Amino acid sequence: MDSQEMIDLCKKHTLYSWSKTNAVSPLPVARAEGIHFWTPEGKRYIDFNSQLMSVNVGHCNPKINAAMKKQMDILMFVHPGTATEPRAKLGQKLAELTPGDIDRFFFTLSGAEANENAIRAARLCTGKQKILSRYRSYHGATNLCMQLTGDPRRWHNEPGAPGVVRVMDPWPYEFSFGKTESEITENNLRYLEEIIMYEGPETIAAMIIETVTGTNGILPPPAGYLVGLRALLDKYGILLICDEVMAGFGRTGKMFACEHGPIVPDILTMAKGLTSSYAPLGAVGMRPNVYKFFEDHVFWGGLTYNSHCLGLAAALANLEVYEEEDLVGNAARLEHVMREEMQRIKDKHPTVKSFRCIGLFGMVDLQKDSKGTPMAPYNGTAEAMTKLGQRFGELGLFTFIRWGSFMANPPLIITEAQLREAWAIVDEALDVTHPYFEG
Ligand SMILES: Cc1ncc(COP(=O)(O)O)c(C=O)c1O
Repeated sequence: MDSQEMIDLCKKHTLYSWSKTNAVSPLPVARAEGIHFWTPEGKRYIDFNSQLMSVNVGHCNPKINAAMKKQMDILMFVHPGTATEPRAKLGQKLAELTPGDIDRFFFTLSGAEANENAIRAARLCTGKQKILSRYRSYHGATNLCMQLTGDPRRWHNEPGAPGVVRVMDPWPYEFSFGKTESEITENNLRYLEEIIMYEGPETIAAMIIETVTGTNGILPPPAGYLVGLRALLDKYGILLICDEVMAGFGRTGKMFACEHGPIVPDILTMAKGLTSSYAPLGAVGMRPNVYKFFEDHVFWGGLTYNSHCLGLAAALANLEVYEEEDLVGNAARLEHVMREEMQRIKDKHPTVKSFRCIGLFGMVDLQKDSKGTPMAPYNGTAEAMTKLGQRFGELGLFTFIRWGSFMANPPLIITEAQLREAWAIVDEALDVTHPYFEG
C-alpha cells in the first residue's frame, strides 16, 4: 500500500485515540529499524520519542524477533492457571532486577491494567478503599485509571470510579511552594500530611505516583521528595505505588526511577519498556507486605491473556538486550549530551523557555515572550507549536508536541553522534517559532 491508501483505509474503518477522526492525519509507517522508521515511499524519520516512550531497545532488534519466533513454534497460549518456562523465567528475572524485596509479579497486557491490578491488590490487602493520586499524571485509559489520572484526558471520562482523591504535585504548574528544592519538598509533604488528616488515614489504602512524571512534563521529583514521601506514607500505614510504566527500564539512567530516591515502593507497575513494545505486556511487582496477603486470600483479578507466552518471551529477550548492550548505562552517560544540547538551543532561540531531562527522558518548554508566558496554554494549542511539529516532520524527526512543549525521548540505543544529529534538526526547526515571539 502507498501512504495515501493506508491513511484513507485506516481513517475509514478505525478510530484513533484521543482524537476527532476528521482532525487526525496519521503518519504512515511501513518499516522500522534501530532509531529510525520509514514511510512506504521511503522517507526516513529519527524516532525521537521511542514511539510512546517505549521502544527502548530500538526497532526490529533481531535477538528479540528471533526469541518471539522461537516461542511461537513451541507454545503460544495456555490458560493463566498453568506453569510455563517463560513465566517461570521472567518472574525470576524481574525479582533480580526490581529494587529491594519486590519479588512477586502479576502479569497484564498494558500499563492501565497493571495500575488497575495494583489498586486492586492494595485495596484487598489493606482492607481500605481510598487512593491518593496527583494532578500532573497519566495512569491509563480504563475507568479507574482515568480517575487516578490528573491530566485533562480525565475530564470527559468523569464521573468514573469512586474513591480517588487527587492532590497537588511537588512541582505545581504556575508557581512554587518554596524557593529551594528542599523547601518545595518540605512544603508539599506538609500539605499532603494535612490532606491525609482530613481524609482519614484509616480510609486510605495507597498513594500512586509516577516516580518521574512523564507526559505531564517529564518532571523528576525535587530533592528529598521520594524519601520524604515514603516516610510520610509509612507513618500513616498507606502503601506507595510507583507507576513506572514510562519511567522504568532505563529511561532515567537507572533500571527503575525509584532507585534515584532511593526508595522501594510497596507496589511497582511497569509495561512499555518491559518488552520495548515488541508485544503487549505489563506487570505489577509486589513486596512481601503485599503479596503475602494473597498466600491465604484470593487475588480477585484475572485476564485471559495473563502470562501470554509471546509477551513473556519478548520481555526475556528484551531484558537480555538491556544487559548485553548496557542500555541503562548509555541513558545515564548521554544525559550530559541532552543537557548540553538543550542549553545550546535555549541560548540560541528566544522561544525556548526551559528544559528538563533525566537520562534520556527530556522535555523542552517554549515561551511566547520574555516574561515566560507558555507558547500554548495548559491543554491548549498554538500556531507556533503546530508549525514546529510540521517542521520536525519535514526535516525527518518524529516526536510529540504537547501544548507548549515538545518531547525528547529517543531509544536508549542511540549513539552520541545520532543524538547530536537529532538535536541539530531540533535547532533548525525551532527557527519557525521566532515570528511568534512577542518580545
Ligand atoms: C505513566 C503511565 N502509566 C500508565 C500508562 C498506561 O499504559 P497503557 O497505555 O499501556 O495502558 C501510561 C501510558 O502512556 C503511562 O505513561
